[in-house]
Amino acid sequence: MNDFKTDFLIIGSGIAGLYYALCVAEKLPNKNITIVTKNSASESNTKYAQGGIAIVTDKEDAFEKHIKDTLVAGDGLCNKEIVQMVVKQGPKCLKKLLRWGIDFDFKSSGEFDLGLEGGHSMNRVLHYKDITGLQIEKSLLKRVEEYDNIKILSNNFAIDLITEKDLKNPFYSTQQTCLGAYVLDEESKKVNKYISTITMLATGGVGQVYSKTTNSQIATGDGIAMAYKVNAKVKDMEFVQFHPTVLYEEDSSSSFLISEALRGFGAKLRTADGNFFMYKYNAREELASRDIVSRAIVSELNLRGDKFVFLDCRSLDKNGLKEKFPNILKKCFELGLDVFKDMIPVVPAAHYICGGIAVNKWGQTSIKNLYACGECAQTGLHGANRLASNSLLEGAVFAEKCFLKSTSFFQSMSPDLCVNDWKENSIKKFSNPDFIQNTTDNVRTLMWENVGIIREEYQLGIVRRKILFIYRDIEDEMKKHAVNREIIELRNLAISALLIINHSLKRKINKGVFYNLDYA
Ligand code: FAD
Ligand code: SIN
Repeated sequence: MNDFKTDFLIIGSGIAGLYYALCVAEKLPNKNITIVTKNSASESNTKYAQGGIAIVTDKEDAFEKHIKDTLVAGDGLCNKEIVQMVVKQGPKCLKKLLRWGIDFDFKSSGEFDLGLEGGHSMNRVLHYKDITGLQIEKSLLKRVEEYDNIKILSNNFAIDLITEKDLKNPFYSTQQTCLGAYVLDEESKKVNKYISTITMLATGGVGQVYSKTTNSQIATGDGIAMAYKVNAKVKDMEFVQFHPTVLYEEDSSSSFLISEALRGFGAKLRTADGNFFMYKYNAREELASRDIVSRAIVSELNLRGDKFVFLDCRSLDKNGLKEKFPNILKKCFELGLDVFKDMIPVVPAAHYICGGIAVNKWGQTSIKNLYACGECAQTGLHGANRLASNSLLEGAVFAEKCFLKSTSFFQSMSPDLCVNDWKENSIKKFSNPDFIQNTTDNVRTLMWENVGIIREEYQLGIVRRKILFIYRDIEDEMKKHAVNREIIELRNLAISALLIINHSLKRKINKGVFYNLDYA
């Protein structure tokens, strides 16, 4: 085990981690910033974002309108002060994104080409075709590489946070302090210690807890589980957002998103026999918020015993579709679907976690020197349901806030801090891959079937017992085998699943994306 010392340790290289790193690097060129990321540097949910980033830029739009739309989507549970702050900071963050080289689409008039998505009263979503996230991820990474004081370590998997209890001579204060993280280097297979003054969790979401999800493979809830393990406050995990329109593929484990922006462009939902149905559920029809559209689809599927509904783009402007949605058209075409003639089969899938590690308006967690930002954090912006395209915005605004707080009065940590090695057993044998695969599949299926769009108290209780049982199995397996990424990801999936279930059991009133039949 090696000891590395750094001033800022950032775990994760999506929009939240990279935005934060760039801000710190610009202000403090003499401080060291280390980004550890568990896959290739670009692999993240950020990379797959399609619709774009919601920011008030149009003269017809107003902060008040975006604030109202966010509050309505959040169904009474947003923190109004945070909503106002995030919406109003949007244009400032946009300036930085543009300065760092991110491209968005413009109209021939020179104004931003703004998309429309569910729950928005105005076109306000800045985008780059239908691959906004890829554009953001690539541009931020390129910029990060220009800084000598940022080191980015791919295939480095954070296992656990280091806190005072891990000191060789522990001292105890009333508020626990974070001192860095234990990180598994996947190439050397060694667990190293990263001792850091500031630790930033920017680890993204938990979508992989479900067998059907839009999320990247990386979204296994690692940051939330690591924070929970050291008793950081975690909030609102019952609010899992399901995206209504994911491409239905009979035998595929991948879930390709069909952007809501397509419905904003006029695409309509139909049942398998060709009938419109959204008018029965909400006056905003296809552009109602995601919770409403997802539940409407589930209701139609259950009524009719169908496996999917259709998204119909056939009457839409061909050139507009080609220009704005080239990636979606390409994917459909590869599967033999010509969207100008064929309808797209779609179903809902797990998409976004509105809850997470509780933070204040500066991104500070309940643990000293531990910050959290992006999808893994619960800031109060989304309440019971996230408004479309507010997530990239939140990641940028909160990265800025974390930067401001963590660099005001910054002083590097004492260099002689002495931390215990990671408690590794002496066993060399890894857990059987079949155990990991089967257990992972089991957790994901249990969650999809019992803790999905529509829940029931009785089922939640049963599935909780099953997953607790599985969690104990995982702990036993960990004691008997050498550590590797797969078993820790499985541990984190099980912790995230239990948090979602426990918080669901505590909620006794339906709000936003949370829907329990017993309270309907
Ligand atoms: P991510 O971008 O997910 O990055 C997390 C990072 O942490 C990754 O680099 C990962 O490898 C790393 N990591 C995780 N665990 C560890 C660990 N243990 N050790 C080391 N590294 C670790 N939002 C919008 O606002 N607009 C959109 O149009 C939009 N479209 C979307 C489309 C899709 C298909 C998906 C899945 C999401 C979409 N979202 C959208 C949501 C949005 O993309 C995400 O919420 C946001 O990008 C999250 O950013 P992040 O930086 O918090 O996390
Ligand atoms: C989409 O493009 O439909 C996804 C937007 C989001 O999740 O905010």
